[in-house]
Amino acid sequence: MTAANLAGKPVAEALLAEVAQRAQALPHPPRLALIRLGEDPASVSYVRSKDKKAGEVGIQSEVHALPEDTTQEELLSLIARLNAEGSVHGILVQLPLPAHIDEAPVLLAVDPAKDVDGFHPYNVAQMWAGHAQLNPCTPRGILEILDFYGVDVAGKRAVVVGRSEIVGRPMAAMLLGRDATVTIAHSRTADLGAVTREADILVVAVGRPQFITPEMVKPGATVIDVGINRIDVGGKGKIVGDVHPDVAEVAGGLTPVPGGVGLLTVAQLMANTVTAAELQAA
Ligand code: GUN
Repeated sequence: MTAANLAGKPVAEALLAEVAQRAQALPHPPRLALIRLGEDPASVSYVRSKDKKAGEVGIQSEVHALPEDTTQEELLSLIARLNAEGSVHGILVQLPLPAHIDEAPVLLAVDPAKDVDGFHPYNVAQMWAGHAQLNPCTPRGILEILDFYGVDVAGKRAVVVGRSEIVGRPMAAMLLGRDATVTIAHSRTADLGAVTREADILVVAVGRPQFITPEMVKPGATVIDVGINRIDVGGKGKIVGDVHPDVAEVAGGLTPVPGGVGLLTVAQLMANTVTAAELQAA
């Protein structure tokens, strides 16, 4: 079998086209505040792409690029100011934060109505209860991919490998919300291959290059690769996923890396920003 290529581009384009229409229909343009601390190259690049995409779909965005040595109090006071600013509909604090910042109080400080990352404990609880309005972008974007390619979730066995707060845990909550039977596996799972082979839908977010090999995959399964790993191949940098390319010979569908899930993270952030603006306008 050669797996269908579940490319992110057409999914992201369809979602962004819908987002642009919804943004236009609002009484005021949606406004997104992006906050980052320091100059971590990945964070700089992610925030830049979020800022650029916002402009393309009619969302006003602003980047608050703060120095690495910004204090917790300074960060909290910026968030308080943006919470109080009626024309700001979405606030995103790019993670990871520098080591001297305590992350939990920062996520707690963002007004849950403006929490376009879905990381505030109120929104996390709503998500597990099955009725969140703002869901974390990467796992929500993965549901867009499954829907776009007509992958049924209800009643299926779903295995999520990885238990991060940004991807693994919320992915499991959302698949459960779609009536899948969900297992969360991770680096300490005994006989991981036996668990992953049960999956009709396998979502992998472990941050280990080419970690999932063909014998760990049930023939015909839908495999979603969330990994973005930079490896060295003959002196040159290359981006690879958490899933070995040979899995395409076993799986029914596989998201490419790059060009898969990553495109949906940014598109879904735009969707969340418009959703937040719609809810605040109502
Ligand atoms: N760092 C890696 N992924 C994310 C994300 O989805 N949101 C934020 N704020 N930071 C991240």
